[in-house]
Amino acid sequence: MSTRLHNELNLGAYWMPFTANRAYKAKARLLQSAAGMYYRSEDGSDILDAIAGLWCCNAGHCHPRIAAAIARQAAQLDYATAFQMGHPTAFRLAERLASAAPADLNAVFFTNSGSESVDTALKIALAYHHARGEPARTRVVGRERGYHGAGFGGTSVGGIGNNRKAFGPLLPGAVHLPQTYSHEHQAFSRGQPAWGAHLADDLERIVAVHDVSTIAAVIVEPFAGSAGVLPPPIGYLERLREITAAHGILLIFDEVITAFGRLGASFAAERFGVVPDLITTAKGITSGAVPLGAVLVREDIRAAIVESAPAGAIEFFHGYTYSGHPLATAAAMAALDVYEDENLFARARELEGTFENALHGLADRPHVRDIRNVGLAGAVEIEPRAGAPGARGNEAFAAAFERGLLIRTTADTVAISPPLIVSEREIETIASVLGDVLDDIR
Ligand SMILES: Cc1ncc(COP(=O)(O)O)c(C=O)c1O
Repeated sequence: MSTRLHNELNLGAYWMPFTANRAYKAKARLLQSAAGMYYRSEDGSDILDAIAGLWCCNAGHCHPRIAAAIARQAAQLDYATAFQMGHPTAFRLAERLASAAPADLNAVFFTNSGSESVDTALKIALAYHHARGEPARTRVVGRERGYHGAGFGGTSVGGIGNNRKAFGPLLPGAVHLPQTYSHEHQAFSRGQPAWGAHLADDLERIVAVHDVSTIAAVIVEPFAGSAGVLPPPIGYLERLREITAAHGILLIFDEVITAFGRLGASFAAERFGVVPDLITTAKGITSGAVPLGAVLVREDIRAAIVESAPAGAIEFFHGYTYSGHPLATAAAMAALDVYEDENLFARARELEGTFENALHGLADRPHVRDIRNVGLAGAVEIEPRAGAPGARGNEAFAAAFERGLLIRTTADTVAISPPLIVSEREIETIASVLGDVLDDIR
């Protein structure tokens, strides 16, 4: 790519996140604008967005109602501190999220990202046990291959080796459940695999080893997203719920990618019929338009923390300068309106069959090791090239982009998670371009 803009830009100063900086800067890809299902790249070509930005633009790009709400809010109230102050949109949004949340998860704490939501949820879990007189419950349990953002808390409970290895011991006491994927037992499952519910029983082993008096919470993604779309085995989440409840351990669902329609419902908790004690969200809450996260918390958990503090005192020493930011909360209100008015969650649900068939239609293409799907999320796992793990994934990403398709690859797995406005024809296009890419990589 060598347009005027490209030649003008100095790419040096920007240290890009989760990016192969040297490779990227040798061949930069620049996006200029977006609308609906498409990005427009710097050279004017349209790029079909098969990953909703990064699992976040669920209403499609630059939705006029969301853009207008942000502009209105920016002109009216740009910023209000959330410390000992408030503004109406934050309260309205909290109320709305509480009424959409399952069961009595009625307390809403605002953050600015998924990582902050995770760190906040972990701190709430510890503060809850502290307030109840069990301050030794500080251990947090994550899962192998889990991704919970890039903060120290999220990295500690996360289970992706590359994300952890340079950062020392992280949070003391974080332990991990086994991951839920088995190629032998689950390859080419459609939706939730039948095998693997028993893997939740490993929590009993952790309880036996560490003693329940030390364990605060278990955090899992309802389906692991960043590790390559690993849907939960049938019965697994239910089993985890039973065991955590039996031991007074809080169960946190990290719904940063699963909330707001990815599974055809407001929350994965609703879709799978399993109610956790806390839910972390971000991304789709504003359809990606302004950074915002929210943690939804069981009412009595908040009450235990709040009521343990003296009257008039700050009850929970935690929060962010931009918690409940006016622009972000305005964007979220508009995004929730769009989801409702355009019936996008039901639409996602209706498209699941088409999406599943399109992806699984790639099973016979070269190098395909597995195909997985749940809701409007799916993955095609490519057999790594001998001696060069990740090379085929990188080549697939570049080749798809050349063909006008944005996909996400982690190592050799391609993830697909389109905006919920995707049409059947666009789903077919995504599969057909991906098929061509698979045919071409060596
Ligand atoms: C499950 C989950 N939790 C947390 C995060 C981190 O979110 P953020 O990048 O907004 O900090 C992500 C990001 O992909 C995620 O998928």
